[in-house]
Amino acid sequence: MRILVTGGAGFIGSNFVRYMLDKHAHCRIINLDKLTYAGNPDNLRDIENDPRYRFVKGDIADVSIVGSLMANVDIVVNFAAETHVDRSIHEPGGFIQTDVVGIYVILEEARKHKTRKIVLVSTDEVYGSIEKGSFTEQDRLSPSSPYSASKAGGELLALAYYRTFGLPVCITRGSNTYGPYQYPEKVIPLFVTNALDDIPLPLYGDGLNVRDWLHALDHCSAIDLVLHEGVPGEVYNVGGGNERTNIQITHMILDLLNKPRTLIKAVPDRLGHDRRYSIDCAKIKRLGWRPEQTFEEGMRATVDWYAKNEWWWRKLKSGEYLDYYKKQYATGLESDSERQQRENE
Ligand code: NAD
Ligand code: TYD
Repeated sequence: MRILVTGGAGFIGSNFVRYMLDKHAHCRIINLDKLTYAGNPDNLRDIENDPRYRFVKGDIADVSIVGSLMANVDIVVNFAAETHVDRSIHEPGGFIQTDVVGIYVILEEARKHKTRKIVLVSTDEVYGSIEKGSFTEQDRLSPSSPYSASKAGGELLALAYYRTFGLPVCITRGSNTYGPYQYPEKVIPLFVTNALDDIPLPLYGDGLNVRDWLHALDHCSAIDLVLHEGVPGEVYNVGGGNERTNIQITHMILDLLNKPRTLIKAVPDRLGHDRRYSIDCAKIKRLGWRPEQTFEEGMRATVDWYAKNEWWWRKLKSGEYLDYYKKQYATGLESDSERQQRENE
């Protein structure tokens, strides 16, 4: 099994590379990653010398590099994407370039090289928000953010390549994922690392938005299953079955770290903030998938991992990260005297 993993230096991709090398002795992996701010060679330090693994720095929108790598693999699993909703609100262009144009390049090259299977790792955010009940794979896509709209665009292209050219592509729509090696802009690692530093946890709006949390390893096992058993042209929802409000998540993190709730700081809501995500996962369960981590255990282990691996996250919270943090949170986190001063200027 020769696999091209794209975006394997990011959060879920790096967990997937490690998971596949552990689970399948004969698997060989090429990891193509552009190393954006979210791509981090530290995520795979422990396996970088494994003879079954090779890293290539490059862009999925670069036809020549994707074409040359595709000639040597049977399977492609795409994780590469711009992934953060708040950044997509500030600067959508890069999302369209990678999540739509990059996917187009992968599909075209897979078609030319007759790749045996292509798995696009997508998100439940393509459905948009749902007040009651859960979305099935048949439901209409109604994305709210430039991020989710770009992911939906990439998906629709892929399904068109299946219908038009018979390209053997499967799509997974995973729910909010948590675990080790997640860049500390996403809510769980952001809140854990802020709490460890005793600095405010910026909670959007009323804190009652709901997400369905999935452990990274359960997400990986679902992708592995779809890789082997998924029917070409089909979409599979992958949810952890752990719907929680953001305030519940925040309390859980503070309690696990024995930190006070006074660290919570209500900040202005995200624009277009989806209220609730919920997906029906009967279809992938019929293929035999079940999440193995309970949320309580998974969260305990995850919080513990960040507490013990300061070497990993401390250096990320500098430079570009601080510029982004200021842009995203400055007005929400300022003190009364700072606000007064700003208003007087
Ligand atoms: P991440 O932001 O941690 O990592 C993305 C990786 O892609 C980085 O290593 C980055 O360097 C790389 N990359 C970005 N643009 C690239 C390009 N043009 N060419 C090559 N590499 C590029 O993301 P993640 O959270 O690990 O998400 C991985 C995938 O899973 C994404 O497609 C995302 O949409 C999807 N997903 C994520 C979640 C979640 O909760 N994190 C949930 C469901 C689906
Ligand atoms: P996030 O981790 O950005 O994932 P997504 O937007 O893809 O679901 O956010 C998860 C939830 O946490 C979402 O409802 C927004 C909320 N949130 C905050 O309240 N404060 C924050 O600083 C961030 C980043 C997110």
